[in-house]
Amino acid sequence: MSAAVERRLAELAEEIRGHRGCGFEPCETCLHPVPGEGSASAEIAFVGEAPGAREDREGRPFVGPAGQLLDRLLQSISLAREDVFVTNVLKARPPGNRDPRPGEVFHSWPWLKEQVELVRPRLVVPLGRYALECFLPGARVSVEHGRAIRQAGWTYVPLYHPAAALRMYPLTETMLADFARLPEHLAAAPEPPAELIVEPLVA
Ligand code: URA
Repeated sequence: MSAAVERRLAELAEEIRGHRGCGFEPCETCLHPVPGEGSASAEIAFVGEAPGAREDREGRPFVGPAGQLLDRLLQSISLAREDVFVTNVLKARPPGNRDPRPGEVFHSWPWLKEQVELVRPRLVVPLGRYALECFLPGARVSVEHGRAIRQAGWTYVPLYHPAAALRMYPLTETMLADFARLPEHLAAAPEPPAELIVEPLVA
């Protein structure tokens, strides 16, 4: 991975941290925008929904209860945070943790797209339905979870969001089983092309 990629990822993170004034509620009301973080040469990128309360306070992704579960799931396949890249669809917390709105997702998409194109992971792992909808519109996490889906040269493995497993404990077993398959999906995944091509989002 080149120094230029690392530099641009860091610039992008600064741009996101300094972002204000667009009029979108999460960007205007959050305490700290959360750009995402991890290895610039990660082979797996996890994409969550939006920062929660703890992430908003600390400016870092997945540091609350869902993040603790994510860490345990990573450990179950001998990975640590430093080995992967972790980011979110929205970079700012929607007030009260409400669901992201289509306009907000549209607004944040160029940041997510550039992060993914810079890291160029072999596996993009959307966590939950909001992330999945960005990459594979119309796909349902309850149907596709744990499967590798190839689209325009990129490999996606949709997974349930860890917060769903915290609400519904039996999903933890499902998530462990889905994580256990990530190494085999990784071994089979081709190197992705330079550009991330998805169906255009509609605000
Ligand atoms: N949930 C998410 O989707 N992202 C975070 O960073 C934390 C909780």
